[in-house]
Amino acid sequence: MASSVSCINLGGMEPVEINAGAYYLRQLRADDRIDDRKALVDGYADPELRRWLIGNAILDFDGATRFVAERTQQWHTEQRFSWAIAEPTTGELIGEVGLKVIDPIGRTAEVGCWTRYDLRGKGLMTTSLGAALRFGFGGLELHRIEYRHAAGNVSSERVARKCGFSLDGRLREAMVVDGARHDLLLWSRLATD
Ligand SMILES: CC(C)(COP(=O)(O)OP(=O)(O)OC[C@H]1O[C@@H](n2cnc3c(N)ncnc32)[C@H](O)[C@@H]1OP(=O)(O)O)[C@@H](O)C(=O)NCCC(=O)NCCS
Repeated sequence: MASSVSCINLGGMEPVEINAGAYYLRQLRADDRIDDRKALVDGYADPELRRWLIGNAILDFDGATRFVAERTQQWHTEQRFSWAIAEPTTGELIGEVGLKVIDPIGRTAEVGCWTRYDLRGKGLMTTSLGAALRFGFGGLELHRIEYRHAAGNVSSERVARKCGFSLDGRLREAMVVDGARHDLLLWSRLATD
């Protein structure tokens, strides 16, 4: 992990790179050397991701441009700390993991994550989220990190369990998936766990 890690202070933070072993986590980029926009458009075309992911949708290249700009801005405003999961030899984006809904007073945050559809089930997210959690508790000095997913999102539930989250409860019919209401499972990990 990079050494220059500071706790949340709302004074603006430079994006932090994390060595996650088989992968590395870096800020999302759209510049001359690394451009994540095509990988983002391809990743968001996956029906499974569209079904389960709450929030932003990336429909095209312009949408990906706005998405990368927003993620960059969020580092500086400390609203969200989000990383591209990068393949170590090519630097290619193969997923995204982040800490969002940052509450600097309560020292809480929530996980957001997805991986490329053809690379799932290989431990990619478990490894990457583990590294992001270490940064959240160690670098940001968070106390509580939540993980929420729709009941029925079996692989997401598996990731929560494997990353050491405890089930706090079930929020009844809190999420709409494919036009139908689903319960939301709420998990948490504490710095003291
Ligand atoms: C959830 C997600 C991020 C997991 O990424 P991943 O890289 O596949 O995660 P991992 O390989 O570390 O772990 C996935 C686990 O789910 C299991 N799994 C995958 N599909 C499954 C299924 N249909 N039924 C049961 N288990 C399943 C895998 O076997 C693995 O568990 P295991 O290691 O015990 O075998 C990925 O599936 C994804 O991007 N889904 C779409 C977007 C999404 O749901 N994001 C989360 C929103 S809360």
